[in-house]
Amino acid sequence: MSLHLVAQLDQLKDATPMVFTVAGRSIGLIKSNGRVHAVRNVCPHKGAPVCRGSFKGTMLPSDPGTFVFGMDDRILQCPWHGWEFDLNTGRTLCGHSNKKLVLYPVTVREGAVYVDI
Ligand code: FES
Repeated sequence: MSLHLVAQLDQLKDATPMVFTVAGRSIGLIKSNGRVHAVRNVCPHKGAPVCRGSFKGTMLPSDPGTFVFGMDDRILQCPWHGWEFDLNTGRTLCGHSNKKLVLYPVTVREGAVYVDI
């Protein structure tokens, strides 16, 4: 693994995935609540460019007749079949698959965003 300078922090828009090519790989950076996530731009389901999906929260398990929204700023939803992934773990919320997103460690230093690939 080695650190790659990918972007300046002020280039990234809040809660908006931006895609960069790093060491020959398509990597999405997502800035949210002072944190930056780095995600390989390949859905583990069928290979969609997952970073073209939406970054959001999701509906949580709740009592009948109630709706509880949560996990704000943690969920990336694939644009092809709608699978939702938790960016803290890479796991899908679908429950029937063990497939995970590939996540990379991020370092922010003096306004520069580095990804360890
Ligand atoms: S390719 Fe992403 S959910 Fe199917």
